[in-house]
Amino acid sequence: MGAEVVIEGLSKSFGKHTIWRDVTLTLPPGEVSVMLGPSGTGKSVFLKSMIGLLKPDRGKCVINGVDIVRCSERKLYEIRKLFGVLFQDGALFGSMNLYDNVAFPLREHTKKSETEIRRIVFEKLEMTGLAGAERKLPGEISGGMRKRAGLARALVLDPEIILVDEPDSGLDPVRTTYISQLFIDVNAQIDATFLIVTHNINLARTVPDNLGMLYRKELVMFGPREVLLTSEEPAVKQFLNGRMDGPIGMSEEKDSATLAAERAMFEAGHHAGGVEEIEGVPPQLQPTPGLPERQGARRRKDRVMRILHTLPAPARESIIASLTPEERRHYGVHSARPAHAGVAGVQQGTLPTGDVARLPDSDWTRPLPSNSDTSSDVTRRLPEQGNL
Ligand SMILES: Nc1ncnc2c1ncn2[C@@H]1O[C@H](COP(=O)(O)OP(=O)(O)OP(=O)(O)O)[C@@H](O)[C@H]1O
Ligand SMILES: [Mg+2]
Repeated sequence: MGAEVVIEGLSKSFGKHTIWRDVTLTLPPGEVSVMLGPSGTGKSVFLKSMIGLLKPDRGKCVINGVDIVRCSERKLYEIRKLFGVLFQDGALFGSMNLYDNVAFPLREHTKKSETEIRRIVFEKLEMTGLAGAERKLPGEISGGMRKRAGLARALVLDPEIILVDEPDSGLDPVRTTYISQLFIDVNAQIDATFLIVTHNINLARTVPDNLGMLYRKELVMFGPREVLLTSEEPAVKQFLNGRMDGPIGMSEEKDSATLAAERAMFEAGHHAGGVEEIEGVPPQLQPTPGLPERQGARRRKDRVMRILHTLPAPARESIIASLTPEERRHYGVHSARPAHAGVAGVQQGTLPTGDVARLPDSDWTRPLPSNSDTSSDVTRRLPEQGNL
């Protein structure tokens, strides 16, 4: 199972320029999380801080009991081996063929024989759909293949945590969906903890277990996907719909005069961009048939059911609506009123009183870590409505 990452009160600035402050979130082990945020809000800085390439000013980032903000260089070096990182452009060595690129971390960080390295490299190339392309140079393949090669290389050291920065950049929508499917498939096979940074709304809506958003130097929200996907928070809603109408502007945020002028323009009929308003929670991508079930998704279901009572009502309804009859029985959720007015196809269920978190004995229930605090599972730090 992938490692848990516990981030508390993390802040980063460059000189007087605060990038973000007081970021608190937990990446649950083996779950897939996506971080959204307008350009320049410090998403890449956040990823770099998580692997110790940048040093935050304050706060903690604890992995396997080690706070990487404060630990020694030697410890940091050890912890870094838990990570696989997929950079924006794949970051392949241009003069090496794919085989040597993927073999590189193994030759650099392990004492494995070339025979063993060959076995691992071919396994990862196969996993990422690159079997047969091992002799190609990065310059001879498409952007999508380069991304997959970057992912193959990120996988060779059996990472427990995989960080991905804008996997969709430079890819067409179809290739982006293929790489999204690949993340889910890899997660099903190795149960690693994923954090993906992206602007891609489709990916954000269909891939992760958890969604977060950085905005105005803060983590606006972080929690189960259903929380952000049903949120009425203006910045979150605007971002997920890709529209001009809302608090986010060309240079990150708008002043109130701009906001009012634009409001009037949109009310007078000017198109705010984006397609039709996207509402609700679409189904999540599943592993390709034949692959194992995602253990992270199973654990997440138990986890989310435990914290269900702490979530906003629309998220709660959406989670209940997504349960199969068997899961309803398993969690003691009594169904069902007919479809809720205005939310097509959503069945409401009633929760068992008292113990929403009731989990009957089950071989797929793992104990919560002893320090888990359900009340902090949804981080919600909304700016004052009046400031938006
Ligand atoms: N090494 C650095 N020194 C000084 N400032 C930096 C450094 N790295 C990043 N920044 C600043 O931090 C801010 C956030 O940058 P970052 O690249 O993390 O944004 P981002 O959210 O990833 O944006 P995008 O979506 O466009 O990739 C920017 O203002 C950038 O100029
Ligand atoms: Mg970036």
